[in-house]
Amino acid sequence: MNSDEPRAQIEKLRATIAHHDELYYRKAQPEITDVEYDRLKQSLATLESEFPEFASAGGESPTARVGDDRTEGFATYRHRERMMSLDNTYSETELREFYGRLAKLLGREELAFVVEPKIDGLAVSVTYEHGVFVRAVTRGNGVEGDDITVNALTIKSLPRTLRRGDDLFSEAPALIEIRGEIFMTTAEFQRINKLREEAAEPLYANPRNLAAGTVKQLDSREVAQRKLEIVLYGLGACEPASALPATQSGWHEQVRAWGLPTVEKYWLAKSPDEIWAAVQELDKVRGQFAYATDGAVVKLDSIPLQREAGATSKAPRWAMSYKFAPERAETRLNAITIQVGRTGVLTPVAELDPVRLAGSTVSRATLHNRDEIARKDIRLGDFVYVEKAGEIIPAVVEVNVKRRSPECAPYVFPEKCPVCGTPVVQLEGEVALRCPNYDCPVQVRRRVRHFASKACVDIEGLGEAMVDTLVEKGWARSVADIYRLRKDDLMTLGKSVEKSTDNLLAAIEASKHAELWRFIHGLGIMHVGAAASKDLAQKFRSLDALAEAKHEDFIAGKKTVIEGIGETMAQAIIEHFNDPRNRALVGELQSLGVRPAPPPERAAATSALFAGKTFVLTGTLPTMTREQATEKIEAAGGKVSGSVSKKTSYVLAGAEAGSKLAKAQSLGVPVIDEAEFSRMLAG
Ligand code: IVH
Repeated sequence: MNSDEPRAQIEKLRATIAHHDELYYRKAQPEITDVEYDRLKQSLATLESEFPEFASAGGESPTARVGDDRTEGFATYRHRERMMSLDNTYSETELREFYGRLAKLLGREELAFVVEPKIDGLAVSVTYEHGVFVRAVTRGNGVEGDDITVNALTIKSLPRTLRRGDDLFSEAPALIEIRGEIFMTTAEFQRINKLREEAAEPLYANPRNLAAGTVKQLDSREVAQRKLEIVLYGLGACEPASALPATQSGWHEQVRAWGLPTVEKYWLAKSPDEIWAAVQELDKVRGQFAYATDGAVVKLDSIPLQREAGATSKAPRWAMSYKFAPERAETRLNAITIQVGRTGVLTPVAELDPVRLAGSTVSRATLHNRDEIARKDIRLGDFVYVEKAGEIIPAVVEVNVKRRSPECAPYVFPEKCPVCGTPVVQLEGEVALRCPNYDCPVQVRRRVRHFASKACVDIEGLGEAMVDTLVEKGWARSVADIYRLRKDDLMTLGKSVEKSTDNLLAAIEASKHAELWRFIHGLGIMHVGAAASKDLAQKFRSLDALAEAKHEDFIAGKKTVIEGIGETMAQAIIEHFNDPRNRALVGELQSLGVRPAPPPERAAATSALFAGKTFVLTGTLPTMTREQATEKIEAAGGKVSGSVSKKTSYVLAGAEAGSKLAKAQSLGVPVIDEAEFSRMLAG
């Protein structure tokens, strides 16, 4: 071996791992399964131990890192106590060795362990002060994470206060950080993916990614439309520390007694055999849990002994996770088809000999992109292994090279769009290849489908099949063409009778006056969903004004001008209208008689009762909606803001008020209820 080779290999592996860390932690869109990722890390660790001379080159190795999920648009919060990672294994032997190692370290013959589910969600730390929920923060880099309190408040199963008065202990600690996972049920995942499919938006690969993507949404109303759940199992900082149970099992009971959602089941085990038996039992029952369980976490039960065992730079010595290997199946790859998305992204899909896998028959699987096919050296006719990543969407993970026929040539990714033949391009900083042809029939079809869909302008009779026909006939080359359709043409569509044609044309005519937000959403601007479209409609009040928007209309200094519209969306909107074709569409729609209905104008101030006063609303008011309260405040010359600061005049709080209430109390901002508010209004 050339002496440079291991070094080059190490560097390449590090770069690959860093790439997948970015996809998993920040983008919540991993391209490889956990098992593949763990294998990459294992190869790196092996190489680094064989060639320690290269191990320290180029900074910290990713094997000693826990990733970083922090994203732009969130405030950073420093955990009182670090959030650590876990050592993991797929091997029964290593799990058994873990027992012996700890027994030796602690100088004991027998140790008690808790075996509990390893939840495949998004790590989170929630803080309660004097029993009141104040904050939720992602793991981030373990030291600092993103403050996602507002989004966590949409989680119905997360209590705002700890239940007291139980026999464990009645006083809630002054401050406690409780660790757990945010997740989404499979049912909710499927519900949302169905909506995405209808709106021609890319599907999420599995519940974990969707949960992670949702938690990092900047618009908390979008978050509220997706049902997130939480489960809590761990302990961070606690003041005073003396208030806590002395065992991990006692801690689970405490969490339950406080009324917090916790693991359904855990096992106590006193020997390697008992640990292994518990792990296998967990494997049998995990299918019934609300969350996806990808392994077992084995923890020393005694908390004083946990402290004695301590931690390495990355993970505690007193815990270990055993991961269940996902089911895999071997089958033949017959063909690779290339799908083209609304924005022209090319996605390769494997066409397979049907094979049974984890309860269903699989005949197609994602291949992600060109780089992934090259990295795995997947060739047509190969026998490949498929696994279900996150147990939902199957992926091709590896080739069985032993069964490869000698004639099999490396796969050449098409250089032209399979639909329109335009040479594909790769945009800077993107892995994906795109068809740059805006008029590519697939892109047109998907754009028009999206525009006409229920989630957008909602034109009855203009479903996917009808759109496809219109595009095929060449009658719909753009969204604007919908408004140019002619009765004569439509009547030639054999099966359509006069009445349905009239109905369709009437629905199209009526849609000209649909609400503005529907048109904004229908334009298909990246990252802009329905809730954001509503905010944009409120602020800009016409498509023209939105198309003219400048960066400072969204971001002033470092602050967002419109709550929920951050830097990513701002840039996407500006870029969208930088494209002359997108800009022209706005004018065309206008000239075709489209007159979107702007949202009702917020009433102008009719008094100066609250002039100079800022209100923050939190919780549910007994008789008024938030909108009604906002209207009243604004009509009286006051302002409503989303966050509490020293400058806030009043916090108007209702039932289940959350962190804003706690913050008001800590800053000494006056808190009023609806009755008091009505008295103030009455003067
Ligand atoms: S204990 C200090 N228990 O897995 C111990 N972690 O791979 C750290 N996880 O960062 C965590 N279920 O996000 C623990 N029952 C469980 C868990 C669990 C899931 C996550 C957690 C951790 C990651 C490490």
